[in-house]
Amino acid sequence: MTPRTLTLVLGLIATGAVAHEKVTSKVILARMDLMIEIRDSAAVLGAMAKGTIPHDAAAADRARAALVANAAKIPAAFRAPDMDPNSEASPRIWDNFADFSAEAAALEAAAGTMKTGSAREIGLGMREVGKTCGSCHQDYRQ
Ligand code: HEC
Repeated sequence: MTPRTLTLVLGLIATGAVAHEKVTSKVILARMDLMIEIRDSAAVLGAMAKGTIPHDAAAADRARAALVANAAKIPAAFRAPDMDPNSEASPRIWDNFADFSAEAAALEAAAGTMKTGSAREIGLGMREVGKTCGSCHQDYRQ
């Protein structure tokens, strides 16, 4: 992975953090928390790929496994069409729920096949993972 590609992926991970304290719906808070957990796992892997934290195969594999498990939870977390002015979820999710779920499955697959044996491999895997975050956000996050 070129440093520039990795920077783009890490930039994507850094975005977010909307005003959770104004959100009252438990459903919306839960799906936001799920995304924060996904972001945190991706951030660990991204930092190892970049070398800002040392490569640690066991920690990388835990983060990867958490990504897989949390990606699998996305469809259920978003099934209820709850909206709030502080939510960034697009109403298009519920008109295209099968496609939205397929985007979650793409993240699950990318994380599932990612190799964690070296920083370089993590970087290559994160490029694929990052594409799935970006694709779903482009279509379904506003
Ligand atoms: C299947 C679609 C989908 C995928 C895949 C996905 N996201 Fe999201 N993400 C969303 C949606 C929709 C929201 C807005 C949720 C809301 O505000 O109700 C969101 C919100 C977020 C937020 C803001 C959370 C908050 O409330 O502060 C972060 C951070 C985030 N995603 C990171 C990621 C990262 C990193 C990845 C990839 C590793 C990823 N997402 C993959 C759909 C997705």
